[in-house]
Amino acid sequence: MNNEFYIHGQVALITGGNVGIGRITAIELAKKGFKVIIAGRSLERTQPVLDHINSLAVDEQAIFLPLDLGSFSSVRECVRLFNQLNLPLHLLINNAGVAGLRGLTQDGFEMTFGINHLGHFLLTHLLLEKLQSSGHSRVISVSSRAHKRAAQIDWDALRQPTNSWTGIREYSVSKLANLLFSAELAKRVQGTSVSTYSLHPGVVDTEIWRAVPDWARPLLRLRGFLTPEEGARTTLHCAMHAPKQESGLYYADSKLMQPAGLGQDLELAAELWERSEEWVNHI
Ligand SMILES: NC(=O)c1ccc[n+]([C@@H]2O[C@H](COP(=O)([O-])OP(=O)(O)OC[C@H]3O[C@@H](n4cnc5c(N)ncnc54)[C@H](OP(=O)(O)O)[C@@H]3O)[C@@H](O)[C@H]2O)c1
Repeated sequence: MNNEFYIHGQVALITGGNVGIGRITAIELAKKGFKVIIAGRSLERTQPVLDHINSLAVDEQAIFLPLDLGSFSSVRECVRLFNQLNLPLHLLINNAGVAGLRGLTQDGFEMTFGINHLGHFLLTHLLLEKLQSSGHSRVISVSSRAHKRAAQIDWDALRQPTNSWTGIREYSVSKLANLLFSAELAKRVQGTSVSTYSLHPGVVDTEIWRAVPDWARPLLRLRGFLTPEEGARTTLHCAMHAPKQESGLYYADSKLMQPAGLGQDLELAAELWERSEEWVNHI
């Protein structure tokens, strides 16, 4: 049986906790005694989860914070509001994600990369001091096995509107970026109280595939869908059970897994970090 690395009353912030894998993750963390903060685009769409958590007779009330990961100014405002709560932070779950959207974010980045990677990069960057001053803490990045389909990171393409017809190529790059970010963050916080994990949740029956064209969806279903409850298991494992010394590593099915292809390229991880830092600091 695994050890449990959390203490009742600790604080977790999760992005995209209103539906899908994030909704189940938020509910299960609340049941374990975490104070859960759900950061997302719509209070109205999050209210049913807040009500559900608050009806469970848990000790801590769940809180909503507005956050649009496609906007750097929204990410900064979210962190400002979080800091006003005067809470520590023990668990940051970078869960929110989009697939199949096309276009540019408000700050001029390819839509999927901007939301899935850059928004979370900035959020984590701005919360790092808080995580480091809160005792043992964890940053979890919900990546995907789709990272292995990314053949390269075309830096110029990241400043252009989505190029592929389905958006799946850009999704793979964004999920590679989630994985590389987690590995590089682990290196940068080595020796501090923060540990990091990235993961593939499985292929899960959620709303994420809604923007992918109908004709491309059967490809996604080839291996069958997990329920959101099953899909949240690996995130929950990384949040509460994965050993601290496994910081920076990648999980699937609640077990350590070797990343594929560019997911092992630590030089690329360092370059992605440097470019991301430059982008979020200069826009
Ligand atoms: N489902 C799968 O098979 C699968 C497989 C591998 C990896 N994943 C990863 O798992 C994570 C969760 O996905 P899911 O399957 O649970 O999808 P989902 O049901 O579509 O949930 C996605 C969440 O992301 C939020 N979100 C989207 N754009 C956002 C933005 N600009 N700012 C803030 N939040 C935003 C959504 O909020 P709104 O309600 O406002 O849109 C929603 O809460 C994603 O990172 C995804 O890449 C999923």
